[in-house]
Amino acid sequence: MGKINFFPDNLDVQNQKVILRLDLNVPLKNKLITDDTRIKLCLPFIKSLIQKKAKLIIISHLGRPQGIKDPALSLIPIYKYLKETLQTNVYFFRGEFDNEVKEKFSHLKKGEIILVENIRYFKEEMEDDENFSRKLASLGNIYINDAFSCSHRKQASIHKITKFFDKSFAGPLLKKEIDAINLVINNKKEPVTCIIGGSKISTKINVITNLIKKIDNLIIVGAMANNFFIYKNFKVGKSLTESNTREIIKKIYDKANKYNCEIIIPKDCVVGTNFDGKGKNKDLEQVDENEIILDIGYKTVKKIKQIIDQSNTVLWNGPAGYFENVNFLNGTISIAESISKKTHEKSLISVLGGGDTIAAIKKSKSKLFFSHLSTAGGAFLEYLEGKDLPGLSVLK
Ligand code: 3PG
Ligand code: MG
Repeated sequence: MGKINFFPDNLDVQNQKVILRLDLNVPLKNKLITDDTRIKLCLPFIKSLIQKKAKLIIISHLGRPQGIKDPALSLIPIYKYLKETLQTNVYFFRGEFDNEVKEKFSHLKKGEIILVENIRYFKEEMEDDENFSRKLASLGNIYINDAFSCSHRKQASIHKITKFFDKSFAGPLLKKEIDAINLVINNKKEPVTCIIGGSKISTKINVITNLIKKIDNLIIVGAMANNFFIYKNFKVGKSLTESNTREIIKKIYDKANKYNCEIIIPKDCVVGTNFDGKGKNKDLEQVDENEIILDIGYKTVKKIKQIIDQSNTVLWNGPAGYFENVNFLNGTISIAESISKKTHEKSLISVLGGGDTIAAIKKSKSKLFFSHLSTAGGAFLEYLEGKDLPGLSVLK
């Protein structure tokens, strides 16, 4: 395996058209940015490229529009943010990648920026389409990926685009992320606990089964845990679940058995009758037909804290509940605070990541400490698995 080409600080980019793939996939509510962490982390590099008088073409996705131009997933709020924050002309491109596109981009002056509308409005992006990648690549003469959090995706603006450059680079934020995660992997101390939350088990199944070999405890929280409740014959009312997960879960338990990894699922929960309402702590046996499980309960929080206390390394991705409503935030914040406390006392190595996880823990009123807070969720977990991520292997 070769080494990643990191963007050299001294490379002359004056007047060069730089295609910069970022992860500006931030949470929005009513078209307003609710957490700007990911954008903020990208700003220093954007500013340094502007200062060096590059012509910047920024590409990002937002959500998963699957090739459909869904206005709710437009990058307009991010465009406005960049326009207000950066002292240069920022333009927004929402056209097609047709034969005239190159000419349209040719008017960009040095030190200016074009932000391209949500790249996942084009299905060719998800298909890693060669022609589409060639068109994207034709817009610039230098390509930099500074989106570690998207580098597990084999998609045009991350993967195939690099085919059309002699050399493609990784940006400084990407470097910082992998340096930090490598440090943790190389120094990790057992017992290792992995906490996985969020809503979909089907998207994380491979990561989970591969991680089981490397860790001592696997704690499942969030809506993902609902599928485990059903597997154990509990009723989950109107909670979010996925169909056909029985096989997946059986596989997880079998693998955990084989590799001596303990799986911990919640024993109680906080339920509501809708997402905006109040919560009620209940044991799993007591969930009513009209209720939705929206957070882990206090007995579960206590148990998770005990496990964190007994661990020397904790890896965490995915919130424990519907954190957008403060009534269901307690589980996530309690986990964050106990990881933070032990990290601060220097008795724990902790890495956590993911857009939702970051947005959730920002709601804590205390100052939190972690060995590394990653912008990446899925990419971070796949990197931990030891996988060669498609977006990174093309930078070597
Ligand atoms: C993320 O939020 O994890 C990244 O932006 C990648 O998004 P994706 O999981 O939709 O590919
Ligand atoms: Mg995500």
